Amino acid sequence: MDDSLAAWRTEFPIVDTCTYLVSHSLGAMPRQTAANLQQFADTWSRRGVRAWHEGWWEIGRVTGDLLAPILGVPTGTISMHQNVTVAQSIVASCFRYDGPRRKIVLTDLEFPSNMYLFEGFRRYGADVVYVPSDDGIRTRLERLLDAIDERTVLVCLSLVLFRSSCLQDAKAVVDKAHDVGAHVVLDVYQAAGTVPLDLEAIGADFAVGGSVKWLCGGPGAGYLYVRPDLAPRLEPALVGWAAHAAPFDFETGPIEYAAAPERFQSGTPNVPSLYSARAGYEIVARIGVAAIRQKSLRLTRRMIERALAAGYRVNTPLDDAERGGAVVVDVPGGAAVASELIRRDVIVDYRPGAGIRMAPHFYNTMEEVEHAMSVLDEIVHATPAR
Ligand SMILES: Cc1ncc(COP(=O)(O)O)c(C=O)c1O
Repeated sequence: MDDSLAAWRTEFPIVDTCTYLVSHSLGAMPRQTAANLQQFADTWSRRGVRAWHEGWWEIGRVTGDLLAPILGVPTGTISMHQNVTVAQSIVASCFRYDGPRRKIVLTDLEFPSNMYLFEGFRRYGADVVYVPSDDGIRTRLERLLDAIDERTVLVCLSLVLFRSSCLQDAKAVVDKAHDVGAHVVLDVYQAAGTVPLDLEAIGADFAVGGSVKWLCGGPGAGYLYVRPDLAPRLEPALVGWAAHAAPFDFETGPIEYAAAPERFQSGTPNVPSLYSARAGYEIVARIGVAAIRQKSLRLTRRMIERALAAGYRVNTPLDDAERGGAVVVDVPGGAAVASELIRRDVIVDYRPGAGIRMAPHFYNTMEEVEHAMSVLDEIVHATPAR
């Protein structure tokens, strides 16, 4: 197998110490990140308050611009936030829930914080509707489209589901939502960096995500994309002084919104997190997500092949076109088996109701996949079924 991407392993120290198959949770840290964080400390130490005017104030916009090609959106459309929850809250705060259009549509396979947040909007009048899945892996598209109607204000959809790694048909959802005057916020956290994205072509109104996973960017660097023609018409209630057109005038009273992306900013940018996010974005952009995807599909296909051959249940779509970057394998006593894998330096995780999640990224090799699956077989055969 041609595996030119394996050359990137030297840039990710952890891959020399274990079989790191958990990039759906926390991507490996690039070597360069340590230097970038040192640069942050040096700048703070040597330049002090002057650093704000020497790059720190604009760091959100500059970091968002590095992400733009990975998401397939124009520069100047992404603001940076602490995490998805905050970015999603800013989106939710752009709408009203006290008129006839008050329905928020999600599937019951969404990441829980998306549910927790929108549940809170019931107090403002929102009617939160969950579209049920039959198999816990995917949602029937027609059922989801049927739930989106003239009463819908917002649809919140994960492009790739965290529990099953199912890749959903976002274009069909956006088209239906637009037909009935609703907006769509896509959660692209489990997609960005492993599935090629063209959010502009999809027509997504908003996209949210973070940097911890496939982008290898670490915590504290969540992002919010807003469709550029929509942004000037939106007035988020959840804003701070950094969203003011002239923040350093310190005007009191109502805000005069800045243009996007600062319009969606809250307060002081999360500077060290943005220093730590950069190296991962640069590497992913340099390799190109199309090449990452090709390799990812080869490796996940092999994982699935071995899991099925061993008789395990695979809780991830088998079809490449419907699968993100992870594979979820359900074996008896899955939580204990996952702990044993980790003890043997095969780093994975376990999610109740799903199984053992394993995720190869561009720095993993086919040998590592074979090794992980062999260790899994050994553990399963040594563990009495419960
Ligand atoms: C699809 C998805 N959305 C949201 C989150 C949580 O995001 P945050 O912790 O940045 O709010 C996760 C975390 O695993 C996720 O997988």
